[in-house]
Amino acid sequence: MTDEIMPSPLIPNALQDAPALIVAVFPAQKVSFEAQRERKAGAGQTLTALGSYWKGRKPLILVRAIVLGSLLPQTDDAEADLEIFERLMAFDDEGLARRALIQKALKSKDIAARIELEAPWRCFAYTVKKDARCADAYRAYEKPPTDPNVGRISEAHPANPLETLGFPLDADALCITLRWRRDATEEDKLTLYRKALATFASYEEKAALCKRPEEVDQAWLFAPVWPVVNRHYAHLGIEAWSHQQLIEQLGILRYGHRPRVGDTFSGGGSIPFEVARLGCDVYASDLNPIACMLTWGALNIIGASKECRAGIEQTLRQAAKAVDDDITALGIEHNERGDRAKIFFYCLETRCPESGWMIPISPHWIISKQRNVVAKLIPDYENKHFDIKVVSGVSKKEMLAAAKGTVKDGALLYELNGKTYRTPIKTLRGDYRAPRAIPETACAVGRNTTSSPGRMTSFRNGSTPSSGSPGKPWISSGK
Ligand SMILES: C[S@@+](CC[C@H](N)C(=O)[O-])C[C@H]1O[C@@H](n2cnc3c(N)ncnc32)[C@H](O)[C@@H]1O
Repeated sequence: MTDEIMPSPLIPNALQDAPALIVAVFPAQKVSFEAQRERKAGAGQTLTALGSYWKGRKPLILVRAIVLGSLLPQTDDAEADLEIFERLMAFDDEGLARRALIQKALKSKDIAARIELEAPWRCFAYTVKKDARCADAYRAYEKPPTDPNVGRISEAHPANPLETLGFPLDADALCITLRWRRDATEEDKLTLYRKALATFASYEEKAALCKRPEEVDQAWLFAPVWPVVNRHYAHLGIEAWSHQQLIEQLGILRYGHRPRVGDTFSGGGSIPFEVARLGCDVYASDLNPIACMLTWGALNIIGASKECRAGIEQTLRQAAKAVDDDITALGIEHNERGDRAKIFFYCLETRCPESGWMIPISPHWIISKQRNVVAKLIPDYENKHFDIKVVSGVSKKEMLAAAKGTVKDGALLYELNGKTYRTPIKTLRGDYRAPRAIPETACAVGRNTTSSPGRMTSFRNGSTPSSGSPGKPWISSGK
């Protein structure tokens, strides 16, 4: 007789009607915490490299959790199912230890303060701090070792009492600096990280120290998981050594083939991207062409091989340079001194019903408080509007004047020829008015509403001198 379990064959469609794991168990709090961390990573999010234009992308970790939870079956041991799921998400203690180690989350002195360890000098080395207070603390003992074996229990320094100490210890109080020994192995470090993480009370405290699962080499992060997963699902014939293999086998068990995921509202592409990364076949569409472009980019640019990415980046750099060369040669974006436009400002203009003038609207006209740069409104009596001039290095008094804009307390407010004009914005918008013909507009750049009688005006500041050719004159800067 033998206890060895004979591997079962993988039977297509065997799980056709099996309830999904997610119906019975789902670590919502952990998924939520990890999703929040991904969101807070800002530019560190995987798909944000395509641009932060799409604000509402689903966190990838959430997509992964839902797809895995939907494909994994329930067994008769819900607790074990949850444990397996958490391992596959790297939410378990081993996953956390690996994620924390890669993040170098804990300083040696923090580990020393948190764990019990009888022979710490097998993994750690110390140096005595070089200040007077520390020298005093050790004056009674042999001079601290300075040889390359520093920190080892060595015959040369048998009298040093530090070497008989164990953890926990307070390195600061002992005036020593701790560090990992060069010959400490990854397994040594993982063992101590596991111990140290176990001293934190909550999942959130531990996970906050860690890299996100997707930031860690997947083969290494999940290496200990596969034997456990294979044992748990041995009765189904599963033998997987990566998420992709597991997903494919679960697909065969449920549908007779690799899972196909369709997302007809793909938006920023999170769902197609993550399910493709997990190993599913993907179909995606969206009504919005920008969403289609972002989804395409997620799969074909972010998801491209390293070599392909490098090629794309090189092509983009060449294209950007060619455009830049043209702009410089044509003199656009440059002024007569060769200054290159760096920033463009836009504001809406509206016609004042009282004076008939077009008035640019802004709550203030300060561009830079540090450099005393303001936008000045220069009346053009002939055309009944204002030109906008950017002036640098103005006086305090001029800064104070620029702090007053042309809109205040819900009204258009400005002075012209010593007279103050005030018109409520509601009146300008035509709130409560009966429908009338489209108001007069002068569209310089574009309009931002259909109801307000306005035009967009633009002005710009020249700040970066460049070697470009002198271009068309533009609103000049300088006093
Ligand atoms: C909430 S977003 C999807 C977000 C996406 N899951 C993500 O993570 O980025 C909803 C998407 O549905 C798209 N949409 C709305 N109505 C649609 C329709 N009738 N057909 C196709 N797409 C549609 C919108 O263009 C939008 O991109």
